[in-house]
Amino acid sequence: MEVREHYSLKRHNTFGLDVKARRYIRLESPDESEAAAEAARGMPILFLGEGSNILFLDDFDGAVIHLDADGPIRFEERGDDILLDIPGGKRWHDVVEETVRRGWSGIENLALIPGKAATAPVQNIGAYGREIADVLESCKAYDFQTGRFRTFRAEECRFGYRHSIFKEPEYRDRFLITFLRLRLRKNGTPLTDYGSLRRELERRGIVRPGPLDVFEAVSAIRRRKLPDPARIGNAGSFFKNPVVDADAYRSLSNRYPDMPAYPLPDGRYKIPAGWLIEKAGWKGYRRGDVGVHPRQALVLVNYGGATGREIYRLSQDIVRDVEDKFGIRLEREVRVIPPPPED
Ligand code: EPU
Repeated sequence: MEVREHYSLKRHNTFGLDVKARRYIRLESPDESEAAAEAARGMPILFLGEGSNILFLDDFDGAVIHLDADGPIRFEERGDDILLDIPGGKRWHDVVEETVRRGWSGIENLALIPGKAATAPVQNIGAYGREIADVLESCKAYDFQTGRFRTFRAEECRFGYRHSIFKEPEYRDRFLITFLRLRLRKNGTPLTDYGSLRRELERRGIVRPGPLDVFEAVSAIRRRKLPDPARIGNAGSFFKNPVVDADAYRSLSNRYPDMPAYPLPDGRYKIPAGWLIEKAGWKGYRRGDVGVHPRQALVLVNYGGATGREIYRLSQDIVRDVEDKFGIRLEREVRVIPPPPED
């Protein structure tokens, strides 16, 4: 375990913001959880994977807990299924890559998502028609309040769109996820309904895609559209895609017949926030070192020297403008630390 004081988090958040943590605690194994809890006692806690979904407005006046424990994935066959036990500190993309190389299906659509395995269930990562909730059996977590390990079965995780129990007030900043158990298919058929994925596979002339084909197609789409955080600071989608009721959808689609929308089972519609932001004229916008990515309007970027507050102010301007133009209030998908007063 490594403990540092007033430690720069620049390398630990994908926006590349140079903020400091009062204390930084790096665990090399889940066995160090108790010692980490002891070292953080009395301070606000923040669990950080790769910091790929977070916007710091200030230094963090508390203890950052960073699980850096890599290690092998354990496999167990169960008929046509395969169960995987994944150390929380493993890079998510490495997990995806290893499974597709073995020909297993289930998470190939979730290629190139930055972050650690441990943080994937927290916001129920999702892309191209698949969410981790679809394949997660359980996760093991250390409770910083009681000092005990606890296993959460998938049903207990309260998964929703970019949501889980680990985001809810009484669970947030309390459970350090140390292991994931996933159930994949040995000979499964990948999910390829998502429009841009289907088109990419067609373009490649692939008729019966396997997991590796989907993995490569998704990686290609993401590389084209999304900025690489190693080069341009960003946290992926900054906002969630809003959901509107059928009346609101009808009046909007009368006004904007080209507006994409996805019907939900409950009769409501999900509207791509990227489309709304682009239509409002923000795509490619830049002021100083903050901007809206030119190829995906849902992504805010730090071109180098931006501060968290500048990025946040830009997001406020976008929220106001989209609300004025479309009557839809966008919600942020990234976690803002410290939480700002409602704007
Ligand atoms: N669109 C625009 N302009 C834009 C961006 C998108 O018109 O600037 C339109 C596209 O043409 C398309 C629709 O919006 O018709 C959807 O676009 P896309 O397929 O790029 O997906 P998204 O809804 O913008 C969501 C996730 C992404 C995920 C993709 C693919 C959220 C908040 N975002 O984006 O997740 O990769 O779908 O499944 O749900 C992330 O969470 O960080 C993330 C990147």
